Amino acid sequence: MCGIVGYIGRERAGSIMLDGLKRLEYRGYDSSGMVVNAGKGLELIKRTGRVKELEDALDELQLGGNLGISHTRWATHGDVTEANAHPHQSTDGKIYLVHNGVIENYIGMKNFLIEKGYSFKSETDSEALCNLIAYHYGKEEETTAKNRFLEAVRKSLRHVEGTYGIAVICDDYPDELIGARKGSPLIIGIGKGENILASDVNAITHCTQNVVYLNDNEVVHLTNNDFSISTVSSKSVEAVIHQVDWDTSEAELGDYDHYMLKEIHEQPNALKNGMRGRFSDDKSTAVFGGLNLNPQELRQIDRILFIACGTAWHACLIAEYLIERFARIPVEVEYASEFRYRNAPLDKNTLVIAISQSGETIDTLGALREAKRKGYRTLSINNSVGSTIARECDGGIYQHAGPEIGVASTKAFTSQLLICGMLALYLGRLRDLSYGDGVDIVKAFKELPELVQEALKQTAQIEAIAKKYAKYEDCLFLGRQLMFPIALEGALKLKEISYIHAEGYPAAEMKHGPIALISEDCPSVFLATSGEIFHKSLANVQEVKARKGKVICIATADCEIPDGLVDDIILVPECHEIVKPILMSIPVQLLSYYVALERECDVDKPRNLAKSVTVE
Ligand code: G6P
Repeated sequence: MCGIVGYIGRERAGSIMLDGLKRLEYRGYDSSGMVVNAGKGLELIKRTGRVKELEDALDELQLGGNLGISHTRWATHGDVTEANAHPHQSTDGKIYLVHNGVIENYIGMKNFLIEKGYSFKSETDSEALCNLIAYHYGKEEETTAKNRFLEAVRKSLRHVEGTYGIAVICDDYPDELIGARKGSPLIIGIGKGENILASDVNAITHCTQNVVYLNDNEVVHLTNNDFSISTVSSKSVEAVIHQVDWDTSEAELGDYDHYMLKEIHEQPNALKNGMRGRFSDDKSTAVFGGLNLNPQELRQIDRILFIACGTAWHACLIAEYLIERFARIPVEVEYASEFRYRNAPLDKNTLVIAISQSGETIDTLGALREAKRKGYRTLSINNSVGSTIARECDGGIYQHAGPEIGVASTKAFTSQLLICGMLALYLGRLRDLSYGDGVDIVKAFKELPELVQEALKQTAQIEAIAKKYAKYEDCLFLGRQLMFPIALEGALKLKEISYIHAEGYPAAEMKHGPIALISEDCPSVFLATSGEIFHKSLANVQEVKARKGKVICIATADCEIPDGLVDDIILVPECHEIVKPILMSIPVQLLSYYVALERECDVDKPRNLAKSVTVE
């Protein structure tokens, strides 16, 4: 949520930061801005709207300069206006700051600063921190000139309650850039004669592959040839440089119209990458390198608690079904934001697993820290190598789905389902799942990319169905058992990118309320797979049809759907139960995509949303 890029080096800071902001735009896109040391002093420029607006303004200005900070905003405090856009400038004009996070005690800070004669141009919490740094900078006159700026930043941060990832520059220090983090991500890209600060790796790989992950309460001081890290309380910290193995072309749009469509079509590969080297045919199980729990320890676990937000939370619900079914371990699923403050009693042998594509979602991170504080073993499933959640867990499994840029999660979701299924297999094989059942499951996973490719061939048919239904303003997604979480995900996908009101329900629960919504104007999407409850699902379809509701049925090819019962059918290949949620997700994603397209919505950047949510 909000993207930050800061640059110091020999190149044109403006264009490097602009490139970075475009790559971070999925973190927020209501306004953007930058300040650049453009030779004759610091030049500040801000625009509301997408980063494109800033780019157009910069094209006209042709700013030089090789130091700067920049920001793309997702509003928390204050409307979307240029005044509220970052960077903020202190009242005395010396300090410039960009901020991601929430300064919880900013009102007290602001009142204190107003008394001291500081004035405020914005309604943001961030401007309070900017002025607080200016205030401490003003008071640091006795400090040696060398440390004065850095000392003022550290001193100010000691007063902050809340979260921050910041980049700061000072008019008096044209060769220095300072960054700091607590709760919001910030990384340092180490280049040759240049250094770069950013909210995530995605924004720096066009400059360097060498990365330092800043930890909470750390402050980094950068020049173009050097950097040093200290804590907020001025203790020096030894930096560890990591090499990121990231193919920058993976994050390019290529020939696709939208990242969402590209990422939908990347699923066969994303799934292959998630499976690579992770099966033992011999033992008919999955193999994970980074769990840091041996089989004996895993056998001690008598309950698993999954925590996550958004789409990742739906993946947890699938994990619950699969792990209980194949490994017979009781599973609970909690919204991370609820678990964190609920103080739920957990058994001492509970394993806590966080699922997060970005590895930075603050609610998930907060819940994880709470679980760790209480002494529970923690694992994570995430897609961003080196992310905060990945680093803070006792162990974990990387998804290897590649960068996901579209705000609506697609390939990251199905790759989470894959990892959850593989985990169910692994845990099952440590308990009662037979060798033969293991063989069938491994085979099902290996055939999966091919089947997903098959399912993707229905694109044209789904596009035509989407055109028929795009005019409706309400929609229900209904499914039983494993298809219930997919119904929730389908409803989320549709509402977030096409702004149609949609609800996901267990198909049988429909009778207890949502059935009142059924009419000619409220279609239902039924998710039905073959198996013992298929006929129960059909009975629910009949209930909708009896009330003049239109029905789109998404089903596996082995389901026998009576002629004329439903209005439209989309079939996916017949498959093993463990991979059904993945295959059934494909038409659900395509349907939402084409409905949103038909309604001329901004598919990759839906209103009010951001991909990585780093505020509570
Ligand atoms: C946001 C995104 C969702 C995502 C959720 C959790 O709401 O828009 O697509 O599912 O955050 O993100 P995470 O990175 O933790 O999976």
